[in-house]
Order: sequence, then structure tokens, then C-alpha cells
Amino acid sequence: MSDVIRYERVGDIAVLTAQNPPVNALGLDVRRGLLSGFERAEAEGAKAVLIYGDGRTYFAGADIREFGKPMQAPSFPDLCSRVEASPLMVVSSLHGTALGGGLEVALSSHYRIAVPSAKMGLPEVHLGILPGAGGTQRLPRVAGVEIALDMITTGRPICAAKALEAGIIDRVAEGEPRDIGLAYTQELLDAGAPRRPVCDLPAPQSVDFDSRYDELLKKSRGQLSPATALRAVQAACEADSFDAGLRRERELFMELMNSDQRLGLVHAFFSERAVSKLPELKGVAPRALAEIGVIGGGTMGAGIATAALLSGLNVTLLEMTDTAADAARGRIEGNLQGALKRGKISAEQFTVLTTQSLSLAVDYSALAQADLVIEAVFEDMAVKKTVFTQLDAVCKPGAILASNTSYLDVDDIAACTTRPEDVIGLHFFSPAHVMKLLEVVVADKTAIDVVATGFALGKMLGKITVRAGVCDGFIGNRILATYRACADHMILDGASPYQIDAALTDFGFAMGPFAVADLAGLDIGWASRKRLAPTRDPRARVPSFPDKLCEDGHFGQKTGKGYYIYEAGKRGGTANPDVPGLIDANRAELGLTPRAFTDAEIIRRYMCAMVNEAAKVVGEGIARRPLDVDMTLLFGYGFPRYRGGPLKWADIQGLDGILADIKSYAEEDDFFWQPAPLLQQLVAEGRSFEDLNKANS
Ligand code: CAA
Repeated sequence: MSDVIRYERVGDIAVLTAQNPPVNALGLDVRRGLLSGFERAEAEGAKAVLIYGDGRTYFAGADIREFGKPMQAPSFPDLCSRVEASPLMVVSSLHGTALGGGLEVALSSHYRIAVPSAKMGLPEVHLGILPGAGGTQRLPRVAGVEIALDMITTGRPICAAKALEAGIIDRVAEGEPRDIGLAYTQELLDAGAPRRPVCDLPAPQSVDFDSRYDELLKKSRGQLSPATALRAVQAACEADSFDAGLRRERELFMELMNSDQRLGLVHAFFSERAVSKLPELKGVAPRALAEIGVIGGGTMGAGIATAALLSGLNVTLLEMTDTAADAARGRIEGNLQGALKRGKISAEQFTVLTTQSLSLAVDYSALAQADLVIEAVFEDMAVKKTVFTQLDAVCKPGAILASNTSYLDVDDIAACTTRPEDVIGLHFFSPAHVMKLLEVVVADKTAIDVVATGFALGKMLGKITVRAGVCDGFIGNRILATYRACADHMILDGASPYQIDAALTDFGFAMGPFAVADLAGLDIGWASRKRLAPTRDPRARVPSFPDKLCEDGHFGQKTGKGYYIYEAGKRGGTANPDVPGLIDANRAELGLTPRAFTDAEIIRRYMCAMVNEAAKVVGEGIARRPLDVDMTLLFGYGFPRYRGGPLKWADIQGLDGILADIKSYAEEDDFFWQPAPLLQQLVAEGRSFEDLNKANS
């Protein structure tokens, strides 16, 4: 029999047990095993088939690694139809996560039972596809169109109790999946229960699919899978027969399976899991973490403290004065109130976190027992060095001293302590209790177990943790500085900030670069430009219009005015009418005649600048692998997930075309558009960034 599907008989019941760890993915062997299990059960004269999974879950879906390869028989839809058509009564017993193709096998069974902790869902849209084995046809028949649309277009799983209420499962019972499954199947046999194929149920009631399609497309910012999945559900309601609905589902499924968006989303799925798996950390034990110190209680420090508290750590937050400490406490409590409101913590937990786990202090000696201290003070090297010198004096041996700097040289910071091996960068993104990205910045002398502890902390806080080397801006902010410079150059040459923001949100970015700058605070970029001015290459094109806004006291959202004007109580802003004048003056100063840009050219130049800098970041070893860059941009910079990240996007576009464009832009400005050596090398060797990922994972 099959290695991954065990066959056994318990009286009249043929039991098919999935044994394909870790998640019982329905790869080819599993599909073949199930098929031959049915054939044997039917040939042997069993009366019923029970399907369940060994280990942590029922089938968690198709084997995603098989996507894009030719489907080998039995195909998923054929398998599900075969299960449903079996003359024997088929029961599935669910536990863990019955997802995607897993739930589709369950829906093809005639009865379903689950343990209370089981979750069920059709998350295919997150992989750029739709349920392609009858899920869009069967789920609306059992649960109705509204529940089916919600599950299929959001991909959100539901719990067993909800599934029971919706009719997706027939019973919830405590116990082992095998035991409850056997008892239920026997009970059904004893009661003479009939086979109950979902395909025999009437087509569900139709709804206004067209308007919902438009809404979904808008909401998903260009991601096609949710709206396409809706069309498949529409077929369940409107097709002439169940089989015609299945055929329509298949057509739509294949469209998505062959799309670039599917490539991007599957890349994101595997990369977000691979990003924290670094070969050098294998077997390295992290240092113990229980007590955390945070220095600075502004938005960033308070966010870091909140994230640490929510993950069960004790936090001591250090401020300069009692008044500042009170304000910091207020910020943290405000953040925790938000968590309470969203049901992430209970009222009792809120009380414990704010009264027992959090303490405020104004004296460095309060940090003497901390296992890790994260400094989140003003972004100035002299200030950071004063902080680290004091930490070095009070912290216990083995304590990790971390800086939340976003640009500064961590080697330089480490050098002012007597223990540079304990110093690391932990670059959080604001608001730190919400944003998923954490860059772990490894300095020259950082000890390997300190790096492992940075990754362990990221895991505790639920972050996507990326290793970065030391350079100005590390991975994310360094690349941001380049693509933002590219946007500034396009403005000098004739584009407007509003056209650029609109083109890039159409591309799928959460926000355009000028709206982002307003959100982050224009003073941040201003300070950075001033810091870099003394060492800047005279060939660099630096616009003056962003400085003019700051000189006039406009720092973006926090002052109500920047590239946009923000009115209290209103979401988003409207174009600031002063900005075009500032830009015109800057062009006149430089003797530039503006020209028109198409949206396509804006996107191409912006993306080429991003890819070129990203290739330099990988080539210099600041990021270990292309996927580290991709995950940084996805989780910290609003890059559209369905495009996979800038280097996945580049692979999909073709690296030779990108290099050719960079070279043609270099004819106008050969300083800014110096092609990355790694990009040139990959093109010369006919290799891709994905090849590099594979070689380094
Ligand atoms: N195919 C292949 N590998 C899978 C997989 C799948 N469906 N689901 C998980 N894995 C792998 C992960 O990549 C990971 O591998 P590594 O250890 O090498 O990194 C390992 O299984 C464990 O996964 P997680 O670390 O994610 O474990 P978890 O306990 O945190 O989460 C899970 C488990 C909820 C099942 C989560 O892995 C998940 O959401 N998986 C994807 C589920 C999914 O999308 N299913 C639908 C697939 S599409 C489909 O079925 C439609 C079709 O074509 C018919």
C-alpha cells in the first residue's frame, strides 16, 4: 500500500490514515494513496470509508511545491469527484487545519466530524489561485453563498463551532480524530444513514455578483484571485449543472495558476518561512530572554515595549524625566487598550501587563538586570554613544545591548562599549507593535548567539525577522533612499508627486513614496540629507524642493501639511497647492525643462532603481539572499505581496530587459544608474535571483 496513506479495516469501515508530515499536504503520493484506498475498500466490500490525518492535522491542502508543474493523475478535481462518487459512505474526521484541497476532500466526503479545536478554510486566494477541486461549487451548496463568499474571497479560516453552525461539518466531538471518526461512522452505518454527496444538493441562491466583483477588485488593490474566485462561486449559482460549474471553476483556476500573481504569492509563502532560517544559526542556542529594557518612550520605544509586553516579556522603560516617563506609560497603555478592544488580550491581562509586567524608570541602574536593552532614542550618533556608554557601565555581563537605529553604523556604536560582541541592531518599524518587520543588524563583532537571540526575539514578537549587514540604511532604508531619489529625479524632469503616488498605488503599493514620506515625517529625510551632505558625491542629483517644505515647517501628517494637506478627522490628504510652485522653482534653478511621463515609465524607472539597489545590497552581502530583500520590502515598505518582492518581480520581468533599461537610463545620468555588478553577472550567466535563493538556502 502507499507509504503516505495507511489502509486498515475496522469491521465494515475502511480507514485511510494520512501520514505525510508535517501538514499532510496532498501531494501526488497522497492522492494516489487515497485513490487506491478507495479502490481496495470497494473491492473488499467495506461499507464505509473513514479519512483522517495522523500527526498535527487533517490535510492542510495541496502540496504547494507542485504548483506550476504538470499535474499528474489523479488530479485534484478527479480525486474529489471520485471520493464523492464512491458507492461507500465516506466520512472525514478533521483536526488541526483542514485547508484548501484538504477542506475540498472533506466536502467531497458525505459526512464530516471535527474536534473542537479544528479550523477550516479555503486560503487559496492568498496563493493567487482559487479552490480548484470543487470547493467553490460545494461550499456554497452546504453553507450558502454568503458564508462561502466570505471564506473563499478572504481566505480566512473558521473554527469548528462556526463550521457546525454553517452546516460545513455535521458534528463536533472531543477526542482523537480516529476515535471520534470511527464512532461516528459506525453510528451512521447502524442508523442506515444514506450516502450524501454535496453535488446532489440544489444550486444555491444567486446574489448581485457584478457589484461585488468590482468592490473586491478595488479592495484587493489589483490582486485578482479574490474577484476571480467570486466568479467561480457565481457559476455554482448560475451554471446549468454541477458539472458545468466545475468546468467553469477549472477554467478560472487555470487562468490564475498560470498568472504572475500566483508566482509572486507562492514565492512570498515560502520566503516568509525561509527568511529566518540561516545556516549559521543551526544549533546555536539563543540567550535567555525574560527582562527587557527599552530606552526612550516616544512612538517607537512605546511600540517596542508594547510588542514585548504582548509576547509575555517584562519591560522596564527608561525615560529622561518623570513627565516623559508618564507620557510613555500613557502611550503604551493606549496601545494595549487597542489590543484589548480587538480582543487580543483580556481585561485581566491588561491589568497584569500595565501594573506588573511594565515598569517605568528614569535611572540607568533600573536596567541592571535586563537580559536585553533596546535603545530607541534620537537618531544621532553622539546621543546613541552616550546611551551605550552608560549601558555598558550598568548592564549585567551577557546582557545584549541593541540599537533601534534605522541608518547609523552599528560597528561604530559597538566600539564605544567594552563588549562589542554583545551589541546588535534591532531595527523595528513604526508602529512597532503593529508592523511585522524586524531587521536584525549584525555588526562585525556581534557574537553568533546574540544574532540567534535577535531571531528568537523576532519569533516571540511574531515578526518576520531578516538578517542585515551594516551599511547606511541596512536593507530596507538603503533601497528606499534609492527609489525615493529616483522619484525625486522624475519630479525634477517633469512628473508630479501626485502622478507618481497614483501610478505606484495602481501598481499595488499600499502608498506612494510622497504619501509615505508625509506619514513618516519629512523631517526624518531632511535630517538624513543633512547628515549625508558632507560626504555626498558631487555628481548626485539632489533636489531642493523637499528641504523647502521642511524649512517652512511642514513635516507631513504630524504638522497637517507636507506633499498633502491633512484635515483633522479626515482620512488621507489632498494635494498641497504650494508644492508645484516649489518644484517649478527648483527646476528653474537647475535650468530644467519639464517633460511628460507616462505612468508606465514612472513604474519602470522606479522599479528598476529599486531592483538595481537591491542587487547591490545582495551583491555586497548586506542581505544574504534575494528573498531577504523581498521580505523586507513586503513587510516593511508596503510592496504588493502578489508581486512577490522587487527581486521576484525582476525575475518575472526578465533580468536582461531590466539591465538594458538601466543602461539606457544611464545615458542621462550615469552616476545614479550604475548597473549593479550582481545584476550584470546574473544576466551574463543566464541566471535569476531565484537561482541565488536556491543556492543559498
Ligand atoms: N504544501 C507544501 N508545504 C507546506 C504546505 C503545503 N500546503 N503547508 C505547509 N507547508 C510546509 C511549510 O512550508 C513548512 O515547511 P518548512 O518547515 O520547510 O518551512 C512546514 O510545512 C510547516 O509549515 P508552517 O511552518 O507554516 O507550520 P504552521 O504550523 O505554522 O502552519 C499551516 C501550518 C496552517 C498548515 C500553514 O503551513 C499553512 O497555512 N499552509 C498553507 C495552507 C494552504 O494554503 N493550503 C492550500 C493550498 S492550495 C490548495 O490546496 C488548492 C489546490 O490546489 C487544490
